[in-house]
Amino acid sequence: MALRKIREMGEDVLTKHCKEVTKMNLRTKLLINDMLDTMYEAGGVGLAAPQVGILKRIAVVDVGEGDGPIVLINPEILEQDGEQTGEEGCLSVPGKYGIVTRPNYVKVKTLTESMDEMIIEGEELLARALCHEIEHLDGKLYVELAEDGLHDVEDEKE
Ligand code: NI
Repeated sequence: MALRKIREMGEDVLTKHCKEVTKMNLRTKLLINDMLDTMYEAGGVGLAAPQVGILKRIAVVDVGEGDGPIVLINPEILEQDGEQTGEEGCLSVPGKYGIVTRPNYVKVKTLTESMDEMIIEGEELLARALCHEIEHLDGKLYVELAEDGLHDVEDEKE
C-alpha cells in the first residue's frame, strides 16, 4: 500500500486541464493503485489524479454501494438527466462542504484499466461523484458551484 500526498485547494495543479491516457503501463497501474489506497485511507468517495499531483485523465470512485471501486480513464459524460441538490465535499478542501446541484443521472463513457471502452450509468450519489471527479480533470473544484459558499463540517456537528 502506498499513499500519495493529497493536494489542497490553492495549489496550481488542481486548476489544470489533464492529459488523456494513451496507453496503460506499469507506472499508470501503480498510480491507480496508489490513488485507491489514498482515497480509502482518507475516507473519500472519489479521487482524481490531479489531487495527487498527476495531470492525467484518471479518477477513482467508490460510493460504497458494494460493487467495489470504479476506475475512470479518459471519462466523458454522454448523457445526463434530472437534478439533485445536496452536500458535497472534496478531499482537496478538507473540513468543508458546500451545497451543489448536479444531474441525478449520468451516463459516462470511460476506459477500463485494460483500456477497453465501458459505459457506466449512475444515479444520486454515484452521479454526483462521477460529475465531481470528471470536473477535477478539467481543473475545476466543486467550490465554484457551491450555491451558498463553503461551510465548516465541524460547525455543522455542534
Ligand atoms: Ni474532489
